[in-house]
Amino acid sequence: MECEGKTGIHAIIVPMPGQGHINPAMQLAKKLASKGIAITFVLTQSWHNIITHAHSSAGVNAFAHARNLGLDIRLVAIPDCLPGEFERWNKLHEFFQSLDNMESHVEELIKNLNQSNPTPVSCIVADTMLGWAVPLAKKLRLLSVSFWTQNVSVFSITYHSYLAERQAGSVIHIPGVTHLQPADLPLWLKLSPDDVIARVVARCFQTVREADWVVANSFQGLEGHVVEALWEKMRVYCVGPLLPSAYLDLSDPRDSVVGTSYRVEMDCTQWLDDKAPKSVIYVSFGSLLPMSITQIEEIAMGLKESDYNFIWVLRRPSNECAEVSSMLPYGFLNETKQRGLVVPWCSQLKVLSHPSIGGFFSHCGWNSTLESIAFGLPMLGFPLGIEQFANCKLIADEWKIGLRLRSGDDTNGVIGRNEIAENVRRLMEGEEMRRAAERLRDVVKMEVRKGGTSDSNLESVADGLKAKLI
Ligand code: UDX
Repeated sequence: MECEGKTGIHAIIVPMPGQGHINPAMQLAKKLASKGIAITFVLTQSWHNIITHAHSSAGVNAFAHARNLGLDIRLVAIPDCLPGEFERWNKLHEFFQSLDNMESHVEELIKNLNQSNPTPVSCIVADTMLGWAVPLAKKLRLLSVSFWTQNVSVFSITYHSYLAERQAGSVIHIPGVTHLQPADLPLWLKLSPDDVIARVVARCFQTVREADWVVANSFQGLEGHVVEALWEKMRVYCVGPLLPSAYLDLSDPRDSVVGTSYRVEMDCTQWLDDKAPKSVIYVSFGSLLPMSITQIEEIAMGLKESDYNFIWVLRRPSNECAEVSSMLPYGFLNETKQRGLVVPWCSQLKVLSHPSIGGFFSHCGWNSTLESIAFGLPMLGFPLGIEQFANCKLIADEWKIGLRLRSGDDTNGVIGRNEIAENVRRLMEGEEMRRAAERLRDVVKMEVRKGGTSDSNLESVADGLKAKLI
């Protein structure tokens, strides 16, 4: 990741304060910095503390590496949206409502940066979910880049639904997008329009139209037809998957592998080294949404019955909760100890890139989906909420790189152990899904390398910024 020389452009990057949003924003920061743009990366205080003092120093490493590469990136903190924000993520309504609290702090930060910095702030790059960011950029006469961290299909569904609602039409045709059942729509489209989350997202989709650029963490080879259909209304540039370049085979020795998570990570490498190629299923349901104890028990018994090796990231529901083992059926850990490893957290990228991994049993969060694709792994989809049901539908029926174990209609029931065991076997033995996933992995490699579509799109945005400012 070579720095192309200073441009005199200074962008502040403001992610939504959550792991699945900060991770790709950090990668975007490094890429823009490599195009000669000075970056101030803005975190809320809780996340800043986690990243700078945490057990895992992934964030600090990421930026220390970036600075060693000659990239101009600095990390700054603004006050939290809410006290104890890090624990609030699972209280989604409260959390979404509080996002507006960031605006005044960011405005204040820009004033201070302009007083203390030879290069004034010229651009705000903010998560699309921060609906105040584009209007703030307009008010301060700055350029704006809206960063969508999910796939373009979900963007387009949301964009068209809000458009249609305002035009009072009842049938919504979304060009280029697979049909979804109402139960599989993103959370904000299933809620009443008066609900806090629905209102926050509706505002984001009104303001995103005014952004100078919209960039998405997806890639043209996956969603080209959706992007092109959307271009009639607005241009979204795919710049993903935004992962550390060492994991994408970009073979830049100076951009070495760094962690991307902020919890204590168990190192699973030695355990994986002893297992046969593609013999282990990796099981993880993301960073925030909870699962019932009954469902956890059924998954445990399903994994046991499947006879496959597994690594399972089982998060504790809260810090006060007892050990992870107390959530599992009696005797499970002992009975599966030859072929199973249960950990509270790990470096997912490190695990997924190991040759012993053969499939991913996942909640279909968008980062996890891109990571799975980047390593050519088929997925067993068990979505839990937000936009994960839509992702899972695309994984199974559109891209055909996985199976759908749970749809939006199943949310009240529990998926039983037999169904789980049978689908784990189908996934690990399903050659067609694996080949489709490997084909997409090869597409990813083409898109992110120099001159590939994701790289060129980022180049166009950087050039566009330079052209408007110089
Ligand atoms: C949720 C949504 O589902 C997602 O689509 C949205 O964009 C953000 O909010 P989350 O539950 O965090 O996301 O899942 P995901 O998007 O998959 O992100 C989880 C991240 O945590 C991944 O980058 C993954 O590599 C990392 N992770 C997870 C670890 O590093 N270690 C683990 O043990 C588990």
